[in-house]
Amino acid sequence: MAKAIALRTQRRSESRGFSPGCKEHMKTFNIINPATGAVVGAAADAGAGDARAAIERAVAAFPLWKAKTAFERGDILRRWRDLILKNEEAIARLMSNEMGKPITESRGEVKYAAGFVDWYAEEGKRAYGDIIPSHAGAKRLLATRQPVGAVYAVTPWNFPAAMVTRKVAPALAAGCTVVLKPAEQSPLTAVLLAALWIEAGGPADVFQVLTTADPAAVSEPFFADARVRKLTFTGSTEVGKLLYAQAARTVKRVSLELGGHAPFLVFEDADIAAAVTQVMATKFRNAGQTCVCANRIYVHASIREAFVTKMSDAVRALRVGDPLSDTTQVGPLVDRAGLDKVASHVSDAVAKGARAVVGGQAGPGLFFEPTLLVDVVAGMRILEEETFGPVAPIISFTSEADVVAAANNTPYGLAAYLWTRDLGRAFRVSEALDYGIIGVNDGLPATPHAPFGGVKASGIGREGGRWGLEEYLDVKYVSIALP
Ligand code: SIN
Repeated sequence: MAKAIALRTQRRSESRGFSPGCKEHMKTFNIINPATGAVVGAAADAGAGDARAAIERAVAAFPLWKAKTAFERGDILRRWRDLILKNEEAIARLMSNEMGKPITESRGEVKYAAGFVDWYAEEGKRAYGDIIPSHAGAKRLLATRQPVGAVYAVTPWNFPAAMVTRKVAPALAAGCTVVLKPAEQSPLTAVLLAALWIEAGGPADVFQVLTTADPAAVSEPFFADARVRKLTFTGSTEVGKLLYAQAARTVKRVSLELGGHAPFLVFEDADIAAAVTQVMATKFRNAGQTCVCANRIYVHASIREAFVTKMSDAVRALRVGDPLSDTTQVGPLVDRAGLDKVASHVSDAVAKGARAVVGGQAGPGLFFEPTLLVDVVAGMRILEEETFGPVAPIISFTSEADVVAAANNTPYGLAAYLWTRDLGRAFRVSEALDYGIIGVNDGLPATPHAPFGGVKASGIGREGGRWGLEEYLDVKYVSIALP
């Protein structure tokens, strides 16, 4: 039964880009499978008029949704979570087809996505306020929390399910309405999630998806309209800065989860085998296309040889291929621009003296060989820009102070990792690193109930846990003078 529903929903999504916010739209654009070049399906190509209509619906739906109790909203969210899990295989296959993620990772992402809905179905009930001790005997002071209003959410292509629920679940739990614009490369997963929301009994105008091949035209009405009270965006720092400036026009609240350039520090007392296992997981997950991927792997000079030998074996053993195969570990890059950037980082590093001990070549198609670079030094682009690909650069260091300074020498501040068995060093270095997320002997720290987000050019605000709910709540102060 669940399978039939999933297939029906998927066929509907794939054939005409069903979207609650864009029902009768005739214009569509194709979604291309990056592994094969085949057309996966078509999505409705919304324009500014559709955006304005979606805003009207979101604004009109807000008072009704806000008036529901957190328990009522939580019931619908829980049903949505159940449907997401029931349709795990359909969602996972759609994601792998849209953007090339290996199917085992896509299945993991569906569970991760459902985890946010699960968490916020309950957390919405804990939007507590405060009673403030009064300065005057005849006054009572309260601070309460209220939903911010209609939200514009913009999500990336690299996690087509989890980045949707990481924003939408807390917003809906808080009592906000949401219009979501997914990335053009992988919008069908969001469309399917919205269809499941409706199947769960969620009101269509409370969560709408607008797919488009022209994000600027669709975004403009949201920035111009003061009734849209919040922008939440995950994507590049470059685009995030532009949207931040646009949001200022109507003084919206903003959450920005932007680029990263994660350092991975392996000290001389680290468990080398464990560090290699985890660096492989964080570096090659999603073909290196995550904001929290290890981008700069600093290894103490005294263990460098042992580390490089072990990691070379692991990189060589990676199975690259068809994202729909259960044995594939690395799929293609999402598009030509992504592949070109990875190739240019490798050729720049090699031209400046780095060596590819494994891989180093592009192809076939949008695939790039899993690559291990050694002799990487300052001045190479790969140490300055986010690579977003399956390339691991190794840099040697000898002093703790120097490696912390090098790790912090970047505009970014999303995630950083360190490997040591020394508890003092674990605290000292994690406190010294200017990052929002630190993994100590842990390459995969993200989880729905913990805060995810960065400092500096990596963004503003946090998603996940109780911090994620607060992003969608305004504090209202009420002072009551007793008669
Ligand atoms: C991201 O790359 O932004 C998401 C990574 C994660 O949630 O683990």
